[in-house]
Amino acid sequence: MTEPLVVLKDVQKHFGDLHVLKDINLEIGKGEVVVVIGPSGSGKSTLCRAINRLETIESGTITIDGKTLPEEGKALAQLRADVGMVFQSFNLFAHKTILDNVTLGPIKVRKVKKADAEKRAMELLERVGVAHQAQKFPAQLSGGQQQRVAIARSLAMDPKVMLFDEPTSALDPEMINEVLDVMVNLAKEGMTMIVVTHEMGFARKAANRVVFMADGQIVEENTPEEFFTNPQSDRAKDFLGKILTH
Ligand SMILES: Nc1ncnc2c1ncn2[C@@H]1O[C@H](COP(=O)(O)OP(=O)(O)OP(=O)(O)O)[C@@H](O)[C@H]1O
Ligand SMILES: [Mg+2]
Repeated sequence: MTEPLVVLKDVQKHFGDLHVLKDINLEIGKGEVVVVIGPSGSGKSTLCRAINRLETIESGTITIDGKTLPEEGKALAQLRADVGMVFQSFNLFAHKTILDNVTLGPIKVRKVKKADAEKRAMELLERVGVAHQAQKFPAQLSGGQQQRVAIARSLAMDPKVMLFDEPTSALDPEMINEVLDVMVNLAKEGMTMIVVTHEMGFARKAANRVVFMADGQIVEENTPEEFFTNPQSDRAKDFLGKILTH
């Protein structure tokens, strides 16, 4: 593996009595694309949220590029800006234009000049194929277009790693591929990515590794090819049996 960029060591997390992350150890190398897959409630979103420090952890450590995630304050805001996150729901600001949605973070958090932020935003919107929509408002775009704007908005912060939590699961089927294509290109360009998705096509095309979670644990890790064709654990076999028959 290349130099590790995201390192989780012995991470534990409870929600009340529920042990939602059980002793998670995971290293993600620079430029690596890891797909996280597993049944509903297995802790995939919590894992992503912990890496972005949207959730606290009780013990263990999470480091991004050698730096431990701080508890709070300015250092946290800075480090969080290094971690881009794209959710199932696009969370764009409804009352702001597409362009403003993409420039807001760089201007407010990165202190980039407006003109520079706009130039870069237009390049990114071009890259995700929605530059011609820059002056529109989110509600005027399709779900797939909005999700591509959300990706551009994350990229505008120059993150070191991008987290995707089921980015296509709220989309109509015909819009899924346009979002996955953007993600595949991002992976090809060398972005470090952690992607929660059940899209096996994406995993096969873009992932270096599949991490299978069940009941808060990492049960199995393998290449996409090996994982999908030759799962080792009963949990993974059972899970794949279910998603493959749908
Ligand atoms: N804020 C919270 N308070 C209490 N319990 C929570 C909270 N967030 C998540 N949980 C519980 O923690 C467990 C793991 O949730 P999580 O959202 O990480 O699962 P997931 O693998 O992302 O599931 P899905 O595939 O449905 O998105 C679930 O049992 C969930 O109900
Ligand atoms: Mg989830």
